Amino acid sequence: MNISDKFNFRTIYWDDDKAVIIEQTKLPLAEEYLEITDYRVMNDAIKRLAIRGAPAIGIAGIFAAALAAKEYESLPADKFRIKMNEALDNIASIRPTAVNLAWGIEKTRSVLNEVIPKGNSAVFSALKRLGQEVLDEDIAMCRSIGRHGAELLPDECSVITHCNAGGLATGGYGTALGVFFTAHEMGKKIHVYADETRPLLQGARLTTWELMRAGIDVTLICDNMAAHLMKTRKIDCCVTGADRIAANGDAANKIGTYSLAVAAEHHDIPFYVAAPYSTLDKNTPSGDEIPIEEREPEEVTEGFGRRTAPQGVRVWSPAFDVTPCRLIAGIITEKGVFRYPYDFRNYT
Ligand code: MRU
Repeated sequence: MNISDKFNFRTIYWDDDKAVIIEQTKLPLAEEYLEITDYRVMNDAIKRLAIRGAPAIGIAGIFAAALAAKEYESLPADKFRIKMNEALDNIASIRPTAVNLAWGIEKTRSVLNEVIPKGNSAVFSALKRLGQEVLDEDIAMCRSIGRHGAELLPDECSVITHCNAGGLATGGYGTALGVFFTAHEMGKKIHVYADETRPLLQGARLTTWELMRAGIDVTLICDNMAAHLMKTRKIDCCVTGADRIAANGDAANKIGTYSLAVAAEHHDIPFYVAAPYSTLDKNTPSGDEIPIEEREPEEVTEGFGRRTAPQGVRVWSPAFDVTPCRLIAGIITEKGVFRYPYDFRNYT
């Protein structure tokens, strides 16, 4: 049983000839599932964060590719290949920061090249299988990250996390939240402070929802309260996820993660990043080369369902930032905990 079965939700799965996702933009007010048969609808779901989180969009991208293969199944082989490549280029470009989407599409391209000689319907079956394999592997990796990370936590502790790196952001267990779930399962007494995570409130809407379902003590704070919290209450560590980790250990994650790491360093609180090994991108030497997605101004000016700033105001909305490696006390992966200085240039 994985934790999402235990909590009675599923982030993403394949059912017969369709992909199904939990509609995250509706959480926590409504728990709705979206059945997707058209890859363009999956692309849109990724773009508007109905499915989100680096590992989850990697899986969604592969399922989108499977849907494209189904749609183009009856085309002659040469046209099939052209249409599939167009679809894969589209999917890969939706969200540039998380390496997992590009990684999933690269895996898809290899399967495509290998299986095309067996016929178009074989490609559809192979891509469905690939999506399921990546999903299953992800849950296993997150379990292992959870075990390595939980060992770092004292038996009784208070921690801070940012954004949502839980079951909703992965195949169903979570990276940073996986550490907390495992610690809780081990009987550790853990209290999590969840940053609300402006502008789209993944912390307020999703992290609190997951932790409360798991029976973990959680307190919601606004992002700008974290430094004051560190100064006035005992915080043992910070744990966040990552969207891409460069070869030198610089880690991109949801905007606001960097400020949290700076505040943690100032207060001498260890700052950990939890991520599967597949989030390490040895081809990106440092954080300076990580592409940062920028989002629409309305997410900032109308994020609460009504306008909160004057019409016409200029807005800048980077969705991610990069935490420099020297601020990261450890990178928790399924293979163990890496310590600064990091060098992932030759990892396999
Ligand atoms: O824009 P989002 O909601 O997709 O951003 C998600 C994050 O930043 C997560 O922390 C990250 O993807 C790690 S998820 C295990």
